[in-house]
Amino acid sequence: MKVRIHKLFDYLLSTTRETPDCFLGFSLSQSPKLSDFMDDLDPNLSLDWNGVSFQGLPMLRQRVIEQAELDGICTADDVLITAGAAEANYLCFRQLLEPGDDVVTISPGWPQVSVMAKAIGAKLTTVTCHEKDNWTLNLDALRAAVTAQTKLIFLSNPNNPTGMPFSAADLTKIAAIADHVGAWLIVDEVYAGLEWTGPRAPSIAGMYHRGISTGSVSKALGLQGLRTGWMICRDHELIMDCVILRENSSEIMNILGEHIAEIALRPERLGPALAVARAQGLKNLDVLDEFIKSEPRLSWVRPGAGLIGLARLEGEEAEPFARRLLAAPFKTFLLPGTAYDMPNHIRLGVGGGDAVRLDDGLSRLADCLRSIS
Ligand SMILES: Cc1ncc(COP(=O)(O)O)c(C=O)c1O
Repeated sequence: MKVRIHKLFDYLLSTTRETPDCFLGFSLSQSPKLSDFMDDLDPNLSLDWNGVSFQGLPMLRQRVIEQAELDGICTADDVLITAGAAEANYLCFRQLLEPGDDVVTISPGWPQVSVMAKAIGAKLTTVTCHEKDNWTLNLDALRAAVTAQTKLIFLSNPNNPTGMPFSAADLTKIAAIADHVGAWLIVDEVYAGLEWTGPRAPSIAGMYHRGISTGSVSKALGLQGLRTGWMICRDHELIMDCVILRENSSEIMNILGEHIAEIALRPERLGPALAVARAQGLKNLDVLDEFIKSEPRLSWVRPGAGLIGLARLEGEEAEPFARRLLAAPFKTFLLPGTAYDMPNHIRLGVGGGDAVRLDDGLSRLADCLRSIS
């Protein structure tokens, strides 16, 4: 079946012609510039791909293992470099799921799994996480949703859009639930490295033999435009199945993106880059948190990780509100919760570093809230 548009993408597409002055929805760290990498790039680098592994640059794959702290558990052979975490998820959905298969995920959550389950004809079961529980997942509810027919469980850690992180203990229990029925478990770790309340959780690929970690340099490192990500899985048949599918779309990787990603993931760069991203993200998160506390019509569960969170908007439908905020005189972008079937919430982001002019955007949001009360 054809892949159909999701409400999240529909909203983004319908607003791309707008020219907002401010963004309250930035979901990635401030992006580096090409000049930041020039000193480490070889001007004689061949842009031919021949002779390089179909799985991606071996050195980049090794860096992926190191940044995930999987050295000694997984190897570079367990990595496939992809066009972002989105392609890694896509390849897995396509190759793991057949029409009629059961898939389990959580709500609110990253919508890619529901779009793809629908297109493939798989049956999606959603376990709802509630605001009153700080958006945590009730593991008994997950256990009840997973049956002998469940082929795949999909989660993002931390969760997009709530910023709720799963701990190592949670992941151990979730892996046991998956293992009980032999299901695959994809954990989309695209926001890993931006934890505010605890340590980074271990990557699922190292915890469970059918665990698949997907990730990229897009979020914490702000390198979304490189379109360079990965999947890590110890099942080589799955890695090869994904290589075979990719041979029929983009065929091979983006060699320049991979070289830059490899440089960005070198330990001497990664540590400092993450430290800056974390300091900027936390600073913006504190500003946003204070703002929400001061606005009677807004409330939220402060995200435990990542650059986005969901705020409840009292007495107003989120989508008309987001469109009103986007129009003059406010000219400020945020994503309405309708993108996640949450019509009374708005998604707020604290990415973009200092360049994002968060204060200005928040004061426009305050004006817009006052204009409707
Ligand atoms: C949970 C999640 N997965 C995947 C993606 C896509 O990321 P990438 O740029 O690595 O494809 C996003 C982007 O917003 C995301 O939030």
